[in-house]
Amino acid sequence: MTYQEHFEQIVQDQLARVEAMKKAPAAPDFAKKKKIIIGTIDGDGIGPIIMDSARQILETLLAEDIASGRIELRRIEGLTIENRIAKMETVPADVLAEIKKCDLLLKGPTTTPGKGSDMPNLESANVTLRRELDLFANVRPVAIPEKDIDWIFFRENTEGEYALGSRGVEINDDISIDFKVTTTIGTTRLARAAFEYAKNNGNQNVTVVTKANIMKKTDGKFLSLCMDVAKDYPEIEVDDWYVDIMAANLVSDLFASRFHVMILPNLYGDIITDEAAQLQGGVGTAGSANIGGRYAMFEAIHGSAPRMVAEGIAEYANPASICRAAVMMLRHMAMTEPAAKLELALDQAADVLDMPGDGTGNTAADFTAFVLARL
Ligand code: IPM
Ligand code: MG
Repeated sequence: MTYQEHFEQIVQDQLARVEAMKKAPAAPDFAKKKKIIIGTIDGDGIGPIIMDSARQILETLLAEDIASGRIELRRIEGLTIENRIAKMETVPADVLAEIKKCDLLLKGPTTTPGKGSDMPNLESANVTLRRELDLFANVRPVAIPEKDIDWIFFRENTEGEYALGSRGVEINDDISIDFKVTTTIGTTRLARAAFEYAKNNGNQNVTVVTKANIMKKTDGKFLSLCMDVAKDYPEIEVDDWYVDIMAANLVSDLFASRFHVMILPNLYGDIITDEAAQLQGGVGTAGSANIGGRYAMFEAIHGSAPRMVAEGIAEYANPASICRAAVMMLRHMAMTEPAAKLELALDQAADVLDMPGDGTGNTAADFTAFVLARL
């Protein structure tokens, strides 16, 4: 394929994606749903350890609904780096078919081979799942009460720099080109989710974060679409910042607590939410929700930590982030009471347990026992 044909193919695929987005179903009403299937996916590295903890906690918390058959926790096997490499599929077709039979997913971290690793070049399973299940909003809350910080990030989750991240072109030995995509529907549905959240939570102010001064077409479009949506919410205060100064604002004692709801394109959202999670106490402490129409997937914000496994300290992995994701899942299912119960236990765990992730302090099993004792 010439690179002209490659580009033409990319454009056609993106146009088709837009048409598919237009037909996307609305989210189900979980409060009324008779049966909810929650697929649990272990993932790689420390994944099985933290997911064991989350599963035990959910089994206890949801014991009644599980016994009555209203909720099923279903293990989804095969989303491991070994199986993905063996089949040379980022999400093997049979695994994806099982995933699509679920309503919600709680997913441990999956390994993504990076450039220069000895693994074959596979797309990130996260990225594939977000795209395949059309999980357009990545919602990441961060709270630091002692600094009066209460942030929630709405990161665009299916396009931007990620849509074609594995489909860039090496023109020749001298030049490589990647692509970034912004669509009207992709941005608008994300912005709408963020403004709805802001409205339902006391008209919190909304901040749009881009680099529209440099990425004029894509970020420029993103910014102006967010501002269009803002017009439907005249009671909400809106401002916009470039991502570089925003990274600084979040560590500024003067500015940090002024921000509440933030809307960001995919890559900036990826970076800024790690920064925010670190300020809260580490990337192991923040949960992440990937919300779409038909499906939603909840996951830890951190990766599979192969280093912890290599050093033999995987049992010290902190299940807090995946458990925070479980809290978000319970809220998404309109199960506010168990969500609050679990959240309180997690806050206590954060205060009492010592989990620096370097092979000292408390283990994941200590964490599980601590939380179970408080449910
Ligand atoms: C995240 C992660 C993923 C991302 C990786 C694992 C592909 O960093 O969920 O933030 O870049 O989105
Ligand atoms: Mg990230």
